[in-house]
Amino acid sequence: MSEENKLQGCAITGVGSYVPERILANAELESMVDTTDEWITSRTGIKQRRIAAEGEHTSTLATHASRRALAQAGLDAAELDLIIVATITPDMPFPATACLVQKELGATKAAAFDLEAACSGFIYALEVGRAFIASGIYKNVLIIGAEKLSSIIDWEDRNTCVLFGDGAGAAVLQRRDGARGVLATRLGSDGNKADILAMPGGGCRQPATVDSVNERIHFLKMEGREVYKAAVNAMTAAAKEVLETSGLSIEDIQCIIPHQANQRIISAIGSRLGAREDQVFVNLQKYGNTSAASVAVALDEALQTGKIKRGDKILIIAFGAGLTWGATVLEW
Ligand code: UT7
Repeated sequence: MSEENKLQGCAITGVGSYVPERILANAELESMVDTTDEWITSRTGIKQRRIAAEGEHTSTLATHASRRALAQAGLDAAELDLIIVATITPDMPFPATACLVQKELGATKAAAFDLEAACSGFIYALEVGRAFIASGIYKNVLIIGAEKLSSIIDWEDRNTCVLFGDGAGAAVLQRRDGARGVLATRLGSDGNKADILAMPGGGCRQPATVDSVNERIHFLKMEGREVYKAAVNAMTAAAKEVLETSGLSIEDIQCIIPHQANQRIISAIGSRLGAREDQVFVNLQKYGNTSAASVAVALDEALQTGKIKRGDKILIIAFGAGLTWGATVLEW
């Protein structure tokens, strides 16, 4: 086997997603906080989002999405070597949500751990899973981006509560000699800006107390404008890097899947990359920002709706708290 094949012998053989049934539309939010459908639509593009039912947790959403991905891959869960769940809303601080999914799936021989890179989590998980396969350590890896963001949203804060939703997306990565799969990936981070998007409470710095609950620090906090600027800059730069590394230009890409946070961010990145509107896949109007699940759910929908065909080149770009970001070029 050539060196190139050794590094590229990782194929995505199954993709699946799941969103909860309950739809929370902008009109309903108008009765919860001081906002309007017009403001949310014009500033973000979001029309509705999905909210998990009581008793439906991140592990539940992740398990549903995983079953669909495994079915598409034709792989029995017992054949999995590794499960990675990317999430900022684990069922509990520990054990890992990946272990709860491992149990539900009956993935009896799999190692399992969570990965935390916020909205960039799925691209991070893809790179980690791919590396395990490229190194020959594992053959079958399940990666999942799953979030129940409704559990950490301050439903009294109009700056944030209109933006997010719940959901999960999963992909099965398998060793396939000669598969092209991932052509190039760039991951990045900048902890200097950790405070512009964070949930300050509940960790060891500020554990839960009666005061911490009253101070509402167990909710997601965001400086929207700062995040917006950083997101456009980092995602554009990462996308340009992976295009250059893979020797492709934007015209060679059939489908661009950006993190689904804000239509204005997506449009700004598209125009900086010189992309046509019809190259860019957008579904945020239906789901809002689902963090680690965002690009995974979008990838599944793009596949199901025939936006991606065998042999197509796909550019996935994400950005999130940390700060973290990532871009990857895939050959489907
Ligand atoms: O997934 C991780 C990445 N996250 C993101 O990418 C989110 C990035 N940020 C954004 O998408 C945008 O910054 C927001 C959508 C969050 C906000 O849009 P903006 O154009 O940056 O608005 P802004 O924060 O500058 O707020 C403009 C005004 C403010 O009023 P004043 O201070 O100008 O009087 C806000 O109080 O809009 C007000 N506002 C709202 N009004 C009605 C903020 N939220 C709302 C709301 N309804 N829901």
